[in-house]
Amino acid sequence: MLNKGLEDVVVATSAICDVKGDEGRLIYRGIDIHELAERANFEEVIYLLWHGSLPTTAQLDAFKADLVAHRAVPAQVIDLMKTFPKSAQPMDVLRTAVSALAFYDADAGDNSAEANMRKAIKLTAQTATLVAAIERLRKDQPLVEPRKDLSHAANFLYMLTGSAPDEVSEKTFDIALILHADHEFNASTFTARQIVSTLADFYGAVAGACASLSGPLHGGANTAVMEMLLKISDETQVQAFIDDALATKQKIMGFGHRVYKTEDPRATHLRRMSESLGARTGQPQWYRMSQVIEKTIKDKKGLNPNVDFYSASAYYVMGIPTDLYTPIFAVSRISGWSAHILEQFANNRLIRPRAEYIGPLDVHYTPIDQRSPAPATV
Ligand SMILES: CC(C)(COP(=O)(O)OP(=O)(O)OC[C@H]1O[C@@H](n2cnc3c(N)ncnc32)[C@H](O)[C@@H]1OP(=O)(O)O)[C@@H](O)C(=O)NCCC(=O)NCCS
Repeated sequence: MLNKGLEDVVVATSAICDVKGDEGRLIYRGIDIHELAERANFEEVIYLLWHGSLPTTAQLDAFKADLVAHRAVPAQVIDLMKTFPKSAQPMDVLRTAVSALAFYDADAGDNSAEANMRKAIKLTAQTATLVAAIERLRKDQPLVEPRKDLSHAANFLYMLTGSAPDEVSEKTFDIALILHADHEFNASTFTARQIVSTLADFYGAVAGACASLSGPLHGGANTAVMEMLLKISDETQVQAFIDDALATKQKIMGFGHRVYKTEDPRATHLRRMSESLGARTGQPQWYRMSQVIEKTIKDKKGLNPNVDFYSASAYYVMGIPTDLYTPIFAVSRISGWSAHILEQFANNRLIRPRAEYIGPLDVHYTPIDQRSPAPATV
């Protein structure tokens, strides 16, 4: 049976995350995302994803201390990043830097459960540091050392901007991290699981997952959404722009989903954030434009916004550069990738699907002097 794009194909059991597409529900380890977004913090959610239950106070304190202790990135990796072109795409830099981290980790080639858990902690702590460094290096700004007293969310914003965020920004960003942490067998997570299913290493899997996330059909959509809003720029032009895009059969980034057939529950929170942050920062126009787009796409195509639609305008009014939205997705999703890599290693079987061959059969080798140019095939 052929399932193009592996649509609806179940390739493994997993106890980490459930996406109920018809009901618009997202569940981490049995807990609904709405409850986590309202009550948890990101560090608790990482612990939940990796260990299967919420931590006690003592467990959470120890876990946070472990993350904080691993925030620094080896100097060699920072030196390497300094040699990259300033114009390099942040996701490409992140992918390369993640791969290079392996050279400076004695655990890199050790696929035991203990070593993999240590790598999960290091990579989750260091991805935030790498993304902040990408932004500052390309702007020729000095790097900001991580602060031990700040949460993962606050410390990231501090390393990025040089000043600690206020409580509202920290809380908003923390919720964004919770919402993006995991999403079952999405493309980048599946990439990571597929890579380690060959018993390749954790760093290689995360580098591959970064490449997968960067595509505009996946995590790259949030940047594309903001680019579209900036291109439209004039509120009076939104309707005409979208009508024209639909008439010319263009895809509108930030809409549609392989699994959700109703509202993406993450979009519910991000819509609210986009509205309140827009009002708070005196830039309500991006939310208003997004609303017009949402209504039009819903009416004309029956499609709902996904996680990437309202995160774009929310991040924009927080002052985050557009091409950092996808790396910020990775700052969160590294937690989900890690959970899945640990689960894959714990119960591994090589992931190796089949293709339905549609090429020719019974072709014979022609000596080079007897060949005529054939039309190129893909
Ligand atoms: C997410 C996505 C890749 C899912 O893809 P999929 O399950 O393979 O669905 P398809 O791309 O085959 O789309 C099915 C139909 O809906 C249409 N469609 C899907 N998403 C659309 C969008 N964002 N804008 C306009 N039309 C869209 C397709 O054109 C197609 O129509 P057709 O059958 O008339 O050709 C797809 O919805 C998309 O490209 N969205 C935009 C990118 C995005 O926001 N990605 C982030 C996902 S969280």
